[in-house]
Amino acid sequence: MSRTLAHISDLHIGRDDATDHAARRIVEALLAARVDDVLLTGDVTHRGRREELARFERVFAPLLEQGRLLVVPGNHDRMGDDAARGLMRGGRVAVTARPGIYIVRLDSTAPHNRSLIDGHGEVTPQDVADVEVALADAPPGSLTVLMLHHHVLPLPVEDLAERLATLIGLPSADELPLGEDLLSRILGRCQLVLHGHRHVPAEFHVAGSRAAPMRILNAGCTTQLGRARLLAHASGEVVWEGWLATERIAPRAWTPTPRPVTVAAAVA
Ligand SMILES: [Fe+2]
Repeated sequence: MSRTLAHISDLHIGRDDATDHAARRIVEALLAARVDDVLLTGDVTHRGRREELARFERVFAPLLEQGRLLVVPGNHDRMGDDAARGLMRGGRVAVTARPGIYIVRLDSTAPHNRSLIDGHGEVTPQDVADVEVALADAPPGSLTVLMLHHHVLPLPVEDLAERLATLIGLPSADELPLGEDLLSRILGRCQLVLHGHRHVPAEFHVAGSRAAPMRILNAGCTTQLGRARLLAHASGEVVWEGWLATERIAPRAWTPTPRPVTVAAAVA
């Protein structure tokens, strides 16, 4: 029997009315499609405000009440009233095991994210070790997924603000400094790495010399794009995938072309 999961990210609830409307439309689509698990990889709120968090909880109440939504915080959630504290509790690494799927959540935010211009992520060597240990406990026959907000591999600069930030030496558009190390440690134990932060979707296929390949998927900004990636899985393998579309607020050509990457596998 197959189950479905949807990956959404960077909702930025509270940015404007159009964004909040798009979030409502996404929830309607997720409910209509009866998606089993919805994985939300951060920047749930636009400025980390308490009222933005409350709005998110109202809009996503049907999914939250049924336990179908899993969230990691993003850098924007650390601003304002630190909405991140209401999005993920119990430490920086958390495990959720459900029938046919094993999900590890990693909080890649840090106190520096309280400043708008310091949006880059942080993953410590302890975080990497904790994720590796968590994934080692995945039962056979489960789809193994790592969720985090920040990107683990370099991505092109997307807009003028990022270009300026990069020019003056701010690291907000940079990949996680331990990103490739993290991938090398979990290659062979994890099938999907889901993230956001950068608003243009991307996809990498990561291979090592001895380990099974791993996919790195960036959802981009779901409320701007108006669609979410949908995957069906059975017996620990993805058996179908497509897109769950709502109306588009800012249409753009964005379907990512997978890019191959090779890292040294620490596990096999
Ligand atoms: Fe974002």
